[in-house]
Amino acid sequence: MSLYTVTSEIFTENQNSSVVFKNGNAISSFVFKCPSYMIKPKSTNSNIIQDSDDDLDIDRQEEGRLLIEHHISTKLQHVGLQVWRGALLLADYILSNPDIFQNKVVLELGAGVGLTSIVVSFLAKEVICTDVDIGEILKIIRRNFIRNTVYIKSKIYIKELNFLNLNWPTFYTKRIDEATVILAADVIYDENITGGFVQTLEKLLNSKYQKVVYIALEKRYVFTTVNMDTTAPMYEDFLKCIETRNFNWHIEYVKIDFPQYFKYDRVKHMILLKIENKLNEEQL
Ligand SMILES: C[S@@+](CC[C@H](N)C(=O)[O-])C[C@H]1O[C@@H](n2cnc3c(N)ncnc32)[C@H](O)[C@@H]1O
Repeated sequence: MSLYTVTSEIFTENQNSSVVFKNGNAISSFVFKCPSYMIKPKSTNSNIIQDSDDDLDIDRQEEGRLLIEHHISTKLQHVGLQVWRGALLLADYILSNPDIFQNKVVLELGAGVGLTSIVVSFLAKEVICTDVDIGEILKIIRRNFIRNTVYIKSKIYIKELNFLNLNWPTFYTKRIDEATVILAADVIYDENITGGFVQTLEKLLNSKYQKVVYIALEKRYVFTTVNMDTTAPMYEDFLKCIETRNFNWHIEYVKIDFPQYFKYDRVKHMILLKIENKLNEEQL
């Protein structure tokens, strides 16, 4: 078990205002620009404001605010208690592409404190928000959904799904077929967990139903003296693991030039992968 403490850049780079709890947890505001489809039409009169020069000022820009409980730094085995950039990249993609998520059953893997699941629940029919149940993570997710009920339209399930144990409870038997969109943000950072994640994807995509998976991640570079080079070993291991298993998947990189609704540094080594299972003719 790792003794190292890790801290996500998200907490420092966005000046999200925070209140520190007595028990050490923080609650941060994550401010986002509302996409036009979220802005309720106001009556013509309330939209028009007279400014000090008596000019007409049209109120076009509206903001939303998520309140998210999280830790500020943790041991490696509890990184899910923080918010990572991948969660915000995926949240931006969801808000930029509502048609993909509208009225769908969405499953999120390794959801951390639940930010991405909360955002997709603005649009989806049902959200199954999952993680491994350590460090009270599922309780924190539940509290975060309650804090943000004003935005939530979906039916919500918060459940354990552990990549290292593929004997899933019966809850998943029916639900898994219905979940056609699968999300995962920043879950590729440890060799063992990555192996379990790939097996989990294999089980989910081995289906007679068409499914699409979106995986957001930040390539974490390290300098290795073995190669005398800078590499992103976990990401490379993940790709190698997929290639060697020769899955019948269609994989593509999604360009990350979609609008940015949340405040974070969208660094150039962030990646968004889209994976789809290919159905054979009998399944179509
Ligand atoms: C870096 S955090 C990312 C959390 C969140 N998705 C985000 O981007 O803010 C990695 C996530 O993978 C989860 N995880 C680690 N081991 C896991 C396992 N065996 N099964 C399922 N999830 C796991 C962690 O609990 C954590 O939520």
